[in-house]
Amino acid sequence: MTIRPLRKAVFPVAGLGTRLLPATKTMPKEMLTVVDRPLIQYAVDEAREAGIEQLIFVTGRGKSSLVDYFDRGFELEATMERAGKSLSALKGSRTTPGDLISVRQQQPLGLGHAVWCARHIVGDEPFAVLLPDDLMVGGALRQMVEAYNRVGGNIVCAEEVAPEKTASYGIVTPGETDGNLTEVKGLVEKPKPEVAPSRLGVIGRYILQPEVMTILDTKETGAGGEIQLTDAMAKLIGKQPFHAVKVDAVRHDCGDKTGFVLANLAIALDSDELGPRVRAFLAGR
Ligand code: UTP
Repeated sequence: MTIRPLRKAVFPVAGLGTRLLPATKTMPKEMLTVVDRPLIQYAVDEAREAGIEQLIFVTGRGKSSLVDYFDRGFELEATMERAGKSLSALKGSRTTPGDLISVRQQQPLGLGHAVWCARHIVGDEPFAVLLPDDLMVGGALRQMVEAYNRVGGNIVCAEEVAPEKTASYGIVTPGETDGNLTEVKGLVEKPKPEVAPSRLGVIGRYILQPEVMTILDTKETGAGGEIQLTDAMAKLIGKQPFHAVKVDAVRHDCGDKTGFVLANLAIALDSDELGPRVRAFLAGR
């Protein structure tokens, strides 16, 4: 089996973010700030650290600021330079021309549909998918790439979820386990706890083979009437290697208000600059 190098990453950022309303009424969820950077930059930084060269944003209406964010802030930079201010504050917020491509998902028909919208840019190559609302601290995609370079095929990032939470995740039917890798024998989208095949839940990082796009072409709908990535991935099982990997990283689910607040707290507490004051504030409550 030849393992083709991973160069491209798709960022599906066309969702409506209704759980974070009203903040997301006019502001994309992925532009909300965790401490000092928008959510999208954490995901882009993680992809770059994993060796990704081409960033593909699947955006929707009202989401142009995500692409603008990674442009050169020409007036801003010139003004800062004139004022003798360091441009280091802008670190990571610019891409090299040509490295970022965006396509539109014209209607939010589901994660599978969002990924399918990137099919022409992905072409005949393996690709990563990163959902920026799962903020991962600790190089999750890099660890997945290490696993991919050993076993190839398709890889989902997974973690043990609470028994009552299976209906919020794609759940793995596990085969053999070897270290942090578990063979994927089946995938079920959002099963109720009583029918879930395990507690191994898929979280927002994937490495996929391009054949998944052909399956997504059928636009079959699944749970919630949406075109589900999980259902398309499930059809690759048995045809291509398929593994779940548990990574050594911390996940913050920023898709809802509590997770978003906790991510801000955790990252602020870990910061040399902000940690002491935040800790003192919390100690006084
Ligand atoms: P979510 O399930 O969190 O949906 O999508 P959402 O619309 O963003 O948020 P809520 O549930 O209304 O609060 C998971 C990821 O898939 C993307 C989202 O942008 C997010 O990164 N997505 C989802 C799309 O790009 N298109 C879709 O049609 C659905």
